[in-house]
Amino acid sequence: MSNSTPKPDFDALATAAREVAERAYSPYSNVRVGAALQAVDGRVFVGCNVENASFGATICAERSALVAAVAAGAREFTALSIWGSPQARLMPCGMCRQMLVEFGLKLEIQVESAGTERALFTLEELVPGAVVPESLR
Ligand code: THU
Repeated sequence: MSNSTPKPDFDALATAAREVAERAYSPYSNVRVGAALQAVDGRVFVGCNVENASFGATICAERSALVAAVAAGAREFTALSIWGSPQARLMPCGMCRQMLVEFGLKLEIQVESAGTERALFTLEELVPGAVVPESLR
């Protein structure tokens, strides 16, 4: 991270995550999840969960934010905020963790939901012994 990299504003990220959770498409679980991912250049990309009648085709909020970011040309990230409703703190699933690992283990992840304390993790803590791009070189 260079000196010009903006520090993550976790309050702003949490607000963005909560707002995008309102747009979740989750008629099967009724769980709304929003994710806000900040790139090193300061841009913030958001995503929500989008479910499907073929359950396995569902995409989580975190991956939906990540694919939006990559499609916009961002590949380096500082922070991710996740907001879930109505569940008590909703941790990112294994598939989302692994997709995030591809772009750096130093990512700071804040998880929160209505009525819970915020919790802060690094991706490295959430995926010990991760399969990283270097594993294939
Ligand atoms: N979900 C997410 O979007 N992110 C998470 O961190 C965990 C789970 C979604 C997938 C599904 O639509 C619903 O929440 C219930 O698992």
